[in-house]
Amino acid sequence: APVTVKKICCIGAGYVGGPTCAVIALKCPHIIVTIVDLNQTRIDAWNSPDFRLPIYEPGLDEVVREARGRNLFFSTDVDTAIQEADLIFVSVNTPTKKSGVGAGFAADLNYVELATRRIAAVATTSKIVVEKSTVPCRTAESMQIILEANSKPNCRFDILSNPEFLAEGTAIGDLLAPDRVLIGSLQSAEGKDACQSLVDIYSNWVPADRILTVGVWSSELSKLAANAMLAQRISSINALSAICEATGANIDEVANAVGMDSRIGPKFLKASVGFGGSCFQKDILNLVYLSESLHLPQVAAYWRQVVEMNEWQKKRFSKTVVDTLFNTITGKRIAVLGFAFKADTGDTRESASISLIRDFLAERATVSVYDPQVEHEQIWADLDDVVPKSLDEIQKQVTLCSSAFEACEGAEAVVVATEWKEFLEIDWETIYKSMKKPAFVFDGRLLLDASKLKQIGFKVVIIGRGEEIRSPISSPRRHFNVLNGENR
Ligand code: UDX
Ligand code: UDX
Ligand code: ADP
Repeated sequence: APVTVKKICCIGAGYVGGPTCAVIALKCPHIIVTIVDLNQTRIDAWNSPDFRLPIYEPGLDEVVREARGRNLFFSTDVDTAIQEADLIFVSVNTPTKKSGVGAGFAADLNYVELATRRIAAVATTSKIVVEKSTVPCRTAESMQIILEANSKPNCRFDILSNPEFLAEGTAIGDLLAPDRVLIGSLQSAEGKDACQSLVDIYSNWVPADRILTVGVWSSELSKLAANAMLAQRISSINALSAICEATGANIDEVANAVGMDSRIGPKFLKASVGFGGSCFQKDILNLVYLSESLHLPQVAAYWRQVVEMNEWQKKRFSKTVVDTLFNTITGKRIAVLGFAFKADTGDTRESASISLIRDFLAERATVSVYDPQVEHEQIWADLDDVVPKSLDEIQKQVTLCSSAFEACEGAEAVVVATEWKEFLEIDWETIYKSMKKPAFVFDGRLLLDASKLKQIGFKVVIIGRGEEIRSPISSPRRHFNVLNGENR
């Protein structure tokens, strides 16, 4: 029969484990939830008296304020939390492998495996182990084998797959009212019982018809598929944005017209400078790697193109900036507004801003950056990672600013890379006065009111809009480029 879960342990206090288990604690006051992590600094931040939490997520601090100390705890004592729990979420990081077999594609499962081995080593009672991190298909099977090979007598492990679909910036809303909760289990009697135990937890706040129970492999694949299809929509609309720019059509009008087809739907059709975040690229590359391992090269090529289109979109945008600024930005100051991969998060993983700034630096521009949430240390670390120069040299070319105004002062161009609302409310007249002329704005997020900016005097270039600066049809350079099959 299903176990009634009284204590939950979550291994990994990051963007997924933290908010997810905080909401479970909020909604299940009768369950003790302990979130553990090896990273002491991170745990200290979760425990900080003034709620300076390690991740920025709207609404998260209210949840933690209510549950922390009541039935929600944060700790570095991984072993005790494992021993006491009936159910363990594994929410550790699964980055793309940097070396070895599958480098650049396959997920690095080292953290999952280490956490799994720790569970096997210290558990003295039966556990339900729930795979929460996004992992390639069949990871649950590996976890099961490791656990069974290392378990003690009278200690059973049931593995479930329960992928998380929250998006950063809206995590709390997504967790409180999920489109669906997906739970995969073996179809054996024991597997189904374990599944029911987890269903009972979510049933505290999620309607029954939104809780789907499926096989383990379907569950694992659904997570990759959902992210791949979301990313594919963005690459599709971004591919069309290039056509719009070359012809004078308007990508917002196209997206709106297309999205009103109820079979297509209006969401996730916003053209942009390229998608970022820790999931999309990683999960698609996982899918590519999986397809290749299964000897399905056509399937692999299909999904790979979604990532390639995204890379091209980012390059295309930085090239537009250079081309528009009279084919050179050497020595020019470019202000980049936004460094997070999307608004309402401080997360920068795979952010398009990183690629843009790398390209601007390669053209020997100076770059000033402002983001309302991202820590300066993080920006330096990200740039150090991708720019083929020493940090010292990078810091000579890049200035980090504490306001949009400071970043734009004396700049030749402003590049909007993240759709932060506050960029809408900036005093653009004052910015215009402080900039070199002609003053350019490049909107990579379809955020700003172009006609207002043009009235002020800005030259405005918007993703997916061809007519802003010059008529593209009559532009000889564009024709030249088209005829030569160049990038734009
Ligand atoms: C399509 C468009 O739907 C319509 O809006 C446009 O005006 C004309 O083209 P149609 O070709 O008549 O309409 O049929 P549709 O229902 O779109 O199906 C096209 C093909 O896709 C069919 O072979 C159908 O069997 C197939 N299909 C459709 C699938 O294989 N799977 C699906 O989920 C949907
Ligand atoms: C995504 C999935 O949405 C979520 O379900 C999954 O659990 C994790 O991956 P996340 O990466 O947090 O979530 O953010 P998301 O809102 O999906 O945005 C990803 C990227 O796509 C961002 O860079 C965003 O700016 C970009 N994007 C999104 C667009 O460029 N256009 C859009 O229309 C939507
Ligand atoms: P995600 O976005 O998937 O949540 P994060 O990197 O934000 O990824 O969080 C993963 C967390 O898991 C990190 O804080 C990391 O320190 C933690 N972690 C990784 N391996 C272990 C482990 N074996 N035991 C405990 N915590 C771990």
